[in-house]
Formats: sequence, structure tokens, C-alpha cells
Amino acid sequence: MKYQTKLLSWPEEVDEGARLLMSGECVAVPTETVFGLAADASDPMAVKRIFEAKQRPSDHPLIVHILDKTQIPLWATDVPDSAYALADAFWPGPLSLLLPKHPDVNTAVTGGRSTVVLRSPAHPAFRRLLEKSGLGLAAPSANRYKSVSPTRPEHVLHTLAGRIPAVVNDGAVDCGIESTILDLTQVTPTILRPGPVSAQEIERVLGREVHYAQQDNAAAPGNKQQHYQPSAKAEMLGVEHILTLVKQSEKNRYGVLAYSAGLRQIENQVVGFVLLEADSAGYAAGLYDALHRLDQQGVEQILIERPPSTAAWRAINDRLARAVA
Ligand code: TXA
Ligand code: MG
Repeated sequence: MKYQTKLLSWPEEVDEGARLLMSGECVAVPTETVFGLAADASDPMAVKRIFEAKQRPSDHPLIVHILDKTQIPLWATDVPDSAYALADAFWPGPLSLLLPKHPDVNTAVTGGRSTVVLRSPAHPAFRRLLEKSGLGLAAPSANRYKSVSPTRPEHVLHTLAGRIPAVVNDGAVDCGIESTILDLTQVTPTILRPGPVSAQEIERVLGREVHYAQQDNAAAPGNKQQHYQPSAKAEMLGVEHILTLVKQSEKNRYGVLAYSAGLRQIENQVVGFVLLEADSAGYAAGLYDALHRLDQQGVEQILIERPPSTAAWRAINDRLARAVA
């Protein structure tokens, strides 16, 4: 263990986090989506520490977090008007924009690419760190590579304790899934990762159609099919199928992740049971915490009730497809 990871209380001790960042260290900090592992985006050594702590391959680029749209030209070049229109509509908030990078931006943070992804986070703790440090902060989700993203400080500690100096402690996050990533370098704006900001909301601002990228496309190299994975094997099934499986097996080590109250009848026949809210926003807010909890209860197999396939559930279905891949 390299560090004795400290929990910094928000807001009392957050300035200690800013000092760590200014000295080139990483700090885990809540955003409105998931916890991020932040470091000075302009310092290749600081960025390297993020990759080491997460054990993430160094060709996977990181999102650079900034205070507001006035900082876009520090990081990007040839910025289209659409980027400013989207920043006006959704920043601070869970929309990340892929743009051509400014020539001065180091390639450690962009994974060697000529593009950079920018977002302005809404969480006050993250904003305080941006203001106090005066830095742009690179921040991937604060978990080891490929595991489930953290939505609570204890999830961060579960995979990164001893590997980072500090976590800003502010309970749970808001959205619960990672930001929407929109590629603005294509002729047609293209969603590389669906998230809390929907295609329809973006289309309304731009007054034009946006596309979805193919899964596992080369434009977002970290966006691997197998991602967000709990240690237990997970499967997505319909309600009837789950009921049959559980009722047929006398002894099982199942965990069930449901949103239909009808599955409550098997609550006492399985090792772990989580009933999430039946609306997509509430479900997303609880999803990663549920996966973390079921994992910690030592279940061998997680039976996930298949969510609806409507547009509102798109980002959730994207993450679940990766969790069960
Ligand atoms: O909500 C979020 O976006 C969270 C919070 C902490 O802000 N961050 C997050 O970061 O999810 P991460 O590193 O786990 O996912 C970032 C994704 C990766 O799939 C990465 O490949 C893609 O963004 N990305 C970043 N910069 C890129 C670039 N220049 N070109 C292509 N893809 C990029
Ligand atoms: Mg991640």
C-alpha cells in the first residue's frame, strides 16, 4: 500500500484536496454522475498516476473537466458553434464533448489522440476543486479498470484504498451513470456513449439529427464491450424466467436485481435482493450501488430483470449489456 487513503469531508476539508491536486497527486471526488479520479490534466506525470492507480491501459483517453465554456479554447481548437450552444444548454452537467485538441494539450491525457473530451461537472465539490486549483482536471471514473463505477465513497475505497491519497466524502451522487459523450468532429454529431443527456434533448438544441456510434467503435477506445462488470456472473432475464429459476433451485447463491414489485415474492429465497425504482432516472441512480452491494453479499450469480427497451432506458441498457458481456 502506497498511501493511507484519507476521507476528506465536504466542504470542510475539500481545500486539502485542491492542495494535493496542485502538487501533482490524484484525488477521488464526486461528480453528479459517478465519482471521478481527478488529477492535473496539464501535467503528464499527474495523469500517469491516474493510469497507475486504476491499472488502466495508457492509450485510453481521459475526460478533461473544466469550469465553464470560457475554458473550451484552452483545450480545444476549431470549436464549432454547436459546442457553445450545447454548453449553454447542458453545462454544468452530464454532457461530454469530443473536439479537436489544442496543440498544447499533452497526449498523455488524450491517449495519444488528436482529440480531447471536455465536460463541466455540476457537483459543488468538484467545482470547488476546479476553482481553488485553477486547473483543468482529468478524471475517469474512480474505480479499477473494467470494474463497476463508484457512486459512493465506500465504492471508491473498495478498489482504490491504499492506491490514492484521498477521497472527498460526500455521500451518494445524483445521476448514477456516466456522462453522455458526443463527438462533434463528425459531419453528423455522434453519441459515443449514451448517458443522462438524451439524443432527443441534444437534437432539440442543435435543431438537427444526431447518430449513435456502433458499440466498441474505435472513436472511444475505453468504451469496451466488457466493462462495468461485477465479480459475480450476471445475466439479464425476464420476470417469469427469474421466478422459475429461483423457485426450481433449492439452494442457490443468486442475487436478484429487480424493478418490478412482483419479484418481491422471492426476496427471501435468494442471497441478495435489490428492488430499484421503476422509472429510468431513479433506476440509474441506484444501479451501480446495487451491483456493488450484491457483489459484496457474495452472490455467485446476479439475475437482472431486463429493463424496458424504450429511449429513456437506453443508457441503462448500454451499461447492463456491458455488465453481462
Ligand atoms: O460521467 C463521466 O463522464 C465520468 C465523471 C468522472 O466525469 N467520467 C468517466 O470517465 O466516465 P471514463 O474515463 O471512465 O470514461 C471516459 C470515456 C472513455 O470511454 C474514453 O475512451 C472516452 O471517454 N474518451 C475520453 N477522451 C477521448 C478522446 N479524446 N477520444 C475518444 N474517446 C475519449
Ligand atoms: Mg470508467
